[in-house]
Amino acid sequence: MNLERMLVLVGPMGAGKSSVGRLLATRWNLPFLDADAEIEHRAGLSITRLFERDGEAAFRMLEREVLADLLARPAGVLATGGGAVLDADNRERMHARGCVVHLHVSVEAQVRRLEGDHSRPLLARPDRAAVLQAMAAQRTPLYRELAELSVDTDALEADAVASVIETRL
Ligand code: S3P
Repeated sequence: MNLERMLVLVGPMGAGKSSVGRLLATRWNLPFLDADAEIEHRAGLSITRLFERDGEAAFRMLEREVLADLLARPAGVLATGGGAVLDADNRERMHARGCVVHLHVSVEAQVRRLEGDHSRPLLARPDRAAVLQAMAAQRTPLYRELAELSVDTDALEADAVASVIETRL
């Protein structure tokens, strides 16, 4: 499959954006672009350390820069961070350049999938389910509005999610 537009995956933490994106990029023989990995590469720090050292606002600025650059690449499958849709410029660029696909995951499945994960600074607190619930309330409407396709990943492995996207695009 060859996409003129970039495939852009949005959705909450633990939805499988990176795993599904990597699979699709391999199937389609396109570059896989990972916004979080690029942020870490440019900062020379993990996202956790970047949040600790410079705070979330600095992370969001770098995220905006990285997304603008990655969305300017000629082709690829792009996995974005869960909070990228909060920024209006990011939303506009994604919409202009990409075919946006939303990977949905329930808070219950997120809590299960992210158990023991220490790479997400926004979840470094005991009330994870409440934090994820509040994020979902704010962000789900943004994901849905932006995306051409929404896939519920709760009951699916990454491979099956990739196949659903291939079938429904
Ligand atoms: C964030 C999601 C993370 C990462 C950062 C902030 C968020 O990406 O960008 O920790 O605000 O939801 P993933 O969605 O890939 O976990």
